[in-house]
Amino acid sequence: MEVLDIHKSIRIDGDIQVPGDKSISHRAVILGSIANGITRIENFLDGEDCMRTVEAFRLLGVSITKENNCLEIHGNGKNALQEPSEPIYFGNSGTTARLMLGLLAGLSFSTVVYGDKSLSSRPMDRVLKPLKAMGVQSIGRKEAGYLPLALRGGDLHGITYEMPVNSAQVKSALLLAGLGATGVTKVIERYRTRNHTENMLKAFGANISVNGKEIEIDSSRSLSATDVFVPGDISSAAFLLSAAAIIPESSLMIRNVGINDTRAGFLDVLIQMGSKIEVTNKKTISGEPIGDIKITNAPLSGIIIEGDLVPRLIDEIPIIALLATQAEGKTIIRDAEELRVKETDRIQAIVDVLSRLGANIEATDDGMIIEGKTSLNGGEVRSYDDHRIAMMVVVASLISEDHVIIDDLSSISISYPGFMNDLQTLVGK
Ligand code: S3P
Repeated sequence: MEVLDIHKSIRIDGDIQVPGDKSISHRAVILGSIANGITRIENFLDGEDCMRTVEAFRLLGVSITKENNCLEIHGNGKNALQEPSEPIYFGNSGTTARLMLGLLAGLSFSTVVYGDKSLSSRPMDRVLKPLKAMGVQSIGRKEAGYLPLALRGGDLHGITYEMPVNSAQVKSALLLAGLGATGVTKVIERYRTRNHTENMLKAFGANISVNGKEIEIDSSRSLSATDVFVPGDISSAAFLLSAAAIIPESSLMIRNVGINDTRAGFLDVLIQMGSKIEVTNKKTISGEPIGDIKITNAPLSGIIIEGDLVPRLIDEIPIIALLATQAEGKTIIRDAEELRVKETDRIQAIVDVLSRLGANIEATDDGMIIEGKTSLNGGEVRSYDDHRIAMMVVVASLISEDHVIIDDLSSISISYPGFMNDLQTLVGK
């Protein structure tokens, strides 16, 4: 048990950068490892999840060196990857697992893959079903629906696949499989999900075309190395922006944050709730839009979050739920059933944690309803070993009347290892 004792009345004030984007860091390692030539990645997220992807490629024979937040990958094309002599460990990382399954499906060798307890209970059939239709063979419990799994890749053929779930991981897995398949692989989305894979595949020279919600790729062009600058992770920035949004008299600037429209639904929500936000210094680097985000504290009101907005902020729902406890009126979040299969069942975890702290919140099948504004009392809660729940609790502790006691904060190193230090500098000013 850890006692958080950051006094509630201190305002947030400062000018800061957050670590590199987790989704983009994974993709840069994957594409750099299957491209020809040297790829340098700047501002790589040195968190546990992304290091799982690095370790996976080292086992497949790729030379990757790391100095602070810069990676250098010596790629020799995907056909130079070697059959690993030991099982590949994906840890807690759903992105590593699903994207690697797609890539491995197109390689003519056998692999055994596994993950930690949380990852072993998350569905893999959402990628394996279409990958099997493309020709991969897999063995695992529950008809290869969960890790651990054994795969035999190679001899894939392209398919057209209309995704039944809104998932960038599924889309990306199929596009990576398409690089190793004969013919065209076409993925059709219901709602647009984050498009970092498409952007980066273009930058590495793949033959990919995007037409609204339809994406086509084939294996006619091999990838060429290119340097990648990873923007700050908007999902990490969201925790600091939220702290400034709910603590009176706060003002915060976060520089060089990724503001890709398929990811930045959180900014739309802040604006709709009444926050004062300004995005300046906008530019595009390595195919991704970035900008500086400034927020000043202002009163918030409840909103409805549903439909195509949900995939654009799916990872931010834990912190949005906290914002909603501090907003006047009702906030309704629906169409977010995907939260049930994240690092933990996040609908259950959010409702459990926030109601223990004194919020008026109720779970629904596909989301939650929050009635604000309520003051939070403090109390004893669990992190569910989920980085985004843990960081949400830390931000909640900044406005709680009493101590917040949490079982464990170590999961924060999955996506934002320096979070507690950064927060300390902002509240300390
Ligand atoms: C991610 C996609 C999302 C997101 C996850 C990262 C990615 O998952 O929740 O944190 O990098 O592609 P789904 O594809 O399951 O929606």
